[in-house]
Amino acid sequence: MKDIALFYGSYTGVTRDIAKKIVGNLGADKVDLYDIGKDGEKIMEYNILIVGTSTWSIGELQEDWDSFIPKLQKMDFKGKTVALFGTGDQVGYPDTFLDGMGMLYEIFKSHGANIIGFWPIEGYDFTSPLPLYDNENFVGLAIDEDNQPELTDERIKKWCDSIRPIIIQ
Ligand SMILES: Cc1cc2nc3c(=O)[nH]c(=O)nc-3n(C[C@H](O)[C@H](O)[C@H](O)COP(=O)(O)O)c2cc1C
Repeated sequence: MKDIALFYGSYTGVTRDIAKKIVGNLGADKVDLYDIGKDGEKIMEYNILIVGTSTWSIGELQEDWDSFIPKLQKMDFKGKTVALFGTGDQVGYPDTFLDGMGMLYEIFKSHGANIIGFWPIEGYDFTSPLPLYDNENFVGLAIDEDNQPELTDERIKKWCDSIRPIIIQ
């Protein structure tokens, strides 16, 4: 078992592909990769977590994460470090862009996690307040494969560079 685990929830595979790229960037020898819909119960085995979700049905958390929420609500993340990422469509759903990531943030934060990996909102056009940490930053890495796929690899690289010194000794 590695020190770090990435848990993703994905419906059509976009978030899963981003998850694989993040693991590839940080090192497959350093990060275990899990589908929250299949291996969610392993989440408490790790002290360092990366969690990723898409948003569906206009502002709803991806369904595997959504089903896992009752279990998450009973977990204590004090002493654990969590970085988030989300995938969404800022053109189709500007009012609910990345709401799922915002919902996961609220849960992990309110259950004691130390959240890292905030990401600047520059270069995005949306109105949803939920994925915001403050006026200038998302609560985690924001990916829009529907409209800005050409920016994805560079965004992943920069974000991984920013969290690597904190999570990998
Ligand atoms: C019916 C429908 C509703 C969606 N609702 C949202 C939304 O509210 N907010 C958002 O950011 N993206 C929304 N999306 C876009 C998806 O979240 C996006 O395509 C995502 O990358 C899919 O990832 P997945 O395949 O890993 O689930 C929606 C897409 C569809 C088709």
